[in-house]
Amino acid sequence: MPATHDNPTSDRTVAVACRGVTKEFGDGNALVRALRGVDLDIYNGELSLLVGPSGCGKTTLLSVVCGILYPTAGSIHVFGTEITKLSSSKLVGFRGDNVGFVFQQFNLLPALTAVENVCVPLLLKGVPRRHALEKAYQMLEKVNLRDRADAPPSNLSGGQQQRVAIARALIREPRLMVCDEPTSALDARTGHTIMELLREISIEQSRAVVVVTHDPRVYEFGDRIATMEDGRVVGVEEQTPKPGPPPKTPSMVEESVAETS
Ligand SMILES: Nc1ncnc2c1ncn2[C@@H]1O[C@H](COP(=O)(O)OP(=O)(O)OP(=O)(O)O)[C@@H](O)[C@H]1O
Ligand SMILES: [Mg+2]
Repeated sequence: MPATHDNPTSDRTVAVACRGVTKEFGDGNALVRALRGVDLDIYNGELSLLVGPSGCGKTTLLSVVCGILYPTAGSIHVFGTEITKLSSSKLVGFRGDNVGFVFQQFNLLPALTAVENVCVPLLLKGVPRRHALEKAYQMLEKVNLRDRADAPPSNLSGGQQQRVAIARALIREPRLMVCDEPTSALDARTGHTIMELLREISIEQSRAVVVVTHDPRVYEFGDRIATMEDGRVVGVEEQTPKPGPPPKTPSMVEESVAETS
């Protein structure tokens, strides 16, 4: 194990393994090779950053890793399941049970309050409204927004809206969180707060968090930075991330699980 790696929650178990992943869009003269043979491992308990120039395939890679798109070729294992072999209905179920998404645009429903937005994934799953609301309040507490629970998105700042989107992604307790440019619409200070929160989320409960970013200001938060160029991962660098909140001991993690369940 490299000496630079001091994240005590990274147990070095692989959450996502991509091998020879390709993705093509269109055909003939319009053929685009968005991914050209990606090999990449993502680990549990770590915040992994995916960086590279515009058009190099970051969003496409995130989309195939979390089962929004099928790759053209190659294999992707997520928590031991080869998702590339799942039927589309099984893939939807797998995604719902295991993956949380946060995008650059927060995609909150404007007619609902913050807490109602956070509830939506549970309501769609058939959880009774009262129980869903209770859990949504707990998630807002976790992202430090309990006091704004009844505000509509239009009355929240960009950073607050992004925290609501993170709470919504967390409510089903996904083991994998994927975030596409979650700080790009935010100022530097708010972007730092969001990255600190995502890092905390990876540490507690040993979650795998993958963040696509253009923003060099947030590189310091990653345990690992994978660089893409022209449809390939051309390098993976491990680093000692900026110190975040103190890592939780196993008993503290159990307490926080008990608090949120
Ligand atoms: N649905 C699609 N149909 C055709 N081409 C696509 C599609 N989605 C992406 N592409 C192309 O695939 C390539 C990779 O796109 P992708 O969105 O993954 O890049 P990116 O690294 O996320 O870029 P950015 O940093 O600008 O968001 C680009 O050339 C893009 O035009
Ligand atoms: Mg993109």
